Amino acid sequence: NGELLSWQGPLAAVRSPVFLAGEKGDEQVVLGSTPLLDADAALAALDAAVAAYDHGQGAWPTMRVAERIQHVEKFLARMREQREAVVRLLMWEIGKNLKDSEKEFDRTCDYIVDTIEALKELDRRSSRFELEQGTLGQIRRVPLGVALCMGPYNYPLNETFTTLIPALIMGNTVVFKPAKFGVLLIRPLLEAFRDSFPAGVINVIYGRGRETVSAIMASGKVDVFAFIGTHSGAADLKKLHPRPHRLRAALGLDAKNPGIVLPKVDLDNAVNEAITGALSFNGQRCTALKILFVHEDVLEPFLDKFCAKLAALKPGMPWEDGVALTPLPEPGKVDYLNALLADAVAKGAKVVNEGGGSHRQSFFYPAVLSPVSPAMRLYNEEQFGPLIPVVPYREVEEVIDYVLHSDYGQQLSLFGNDPAQVGRLVDAFANQVGRININAQCQRGPDTFPFNGRKNSAEGTLSVHDALRVFSIRTLVATKFQADNKE
Ligand code: G3H
Repeated sequence: NGELLSWQGPLAAVRSPVFLAGEKGDEQVVLGSTPLLDADAALAALDAAVAAYDHGQGAWPTMRVAERIQHVEKFLARMREQREAVVRLLMWEIGKNLKDSEKEFDRTCDYIVDTIEALKELDRRSSRFELEQGTLGQIRRVPLGVALCMGPYNYPLNETFTTLIPALIMGNTVVFKPAKFGVLLIRPLLEAFRDSFPAGVINVIYGRGRETVSAIMASGKVDVFAFIGTHSGAADLKKLHPRPHRLRAALGLDAKNPGIVLPKVDLDNAVNEAITGALSFNGQRCTALKILFVHEDVLEPFLDKFCAKLAALKPGMPWEDGVALTPLPEPGKVDYLNALLADAVAKGAKVVNEGGGSHRQSFFYPAVLSPVSPAMRLYNEEQFGPLIPVVPYREVEEVIDYVLHSDYGQQLSLFGNDPAQVGRLVDAFANQVGRININAQCQRGPDTFPFNGRKNSAEGTLSVHDALRVFSIRTLVATKFQADNKE
């Protein structure tokens, strides 16, 4: 309702991963602050969502689809006006480079447009009547209730909106908590939210998740929970809900996607894909390639080419021309990467690229480690950053064993040009992961493709089309067809 726009309560400072020269040497930039809500304020936002959902005839959940679409279109037009501000904040808040920040913004707008088109199509198909065994049936797609939407810091706009927009457009009311970092960039959109939607339909909350989100989940008033983050974080929050069996969840969680380089392979293509797969946005993507299995026959040339490509990636500030490697936004991340690297080196791996692992403040130069083996933390843990573990292998069974016994099951990449061998592996892995990429890096897009995973990697499927189903349910209106009104 715009209350956050005139917030008088406590504030939390927002720091940038960027350090700039100051009087006392390099100083971390403080970008601004956001409201710091406590549990009561978060529950008030939730109650506004509950009330907006319960408002009866003509209110958001029962509004005609065409009308809801108009609200979303109005929001989109206002959002487009904020492109420059949001892109700039993506660079300053999470260190995403200019090209990828622009891409994130534009991809989000495209996602909204595609969602509107997909809903029109879904609505056309759902409105059909069917006559079966003397019963006339019509399916209505209806919302679920109140949705809690939480996104990740690596795609604070795009991935958050891939649940927020479908939740809204299907008629749910929403409580939305921006990501931990990438939080200021929602500020330019607050007026657009307020002016585009009826009061209470979308409620933004800021503050410590442990206080705010925990209270919201424990209230039992959330019907659908959309969360992109860690498996343990999602599990802890779900446990708080008093009626978990009534909670629908759409979760994007942990991943350790392997890139598997087979002996017969187009090595240049494999290296090109593996570099962007492992290092775009410094490896801070759930879909990043997080471990590379390379056949011993091609290990040496693969590493040579990979390290040469890596050396050509430009480090710098996110807004500088052509920069690929940028500072990391998570406090403590550099220490964590150092600990993984030290553990791997102590257990026999070597850093094979020049300068790998060097660091300063929030910047960490990527390190390629080989040979990585099962006893190392890096073999199992999701590093979510610029460390590239390489596991040389002789027999493909070693790789099959890794995939089958991994706790993760999001995606994998197969690099090879022997169709029979690639085909056998596709068969072996098809029930282990959500997506198999052949001669290509792992990735979420195109956004019309299903995005999901197995094991600890996901719950539910998201995509332009799938998300509309995640945030709705079918109600059947069945009319007994009377003999005397058959004409
Ligand atoms: O961080 C997880 C994202 O879903 C990755 O998306 O593959 O488009 O970079 P992306």
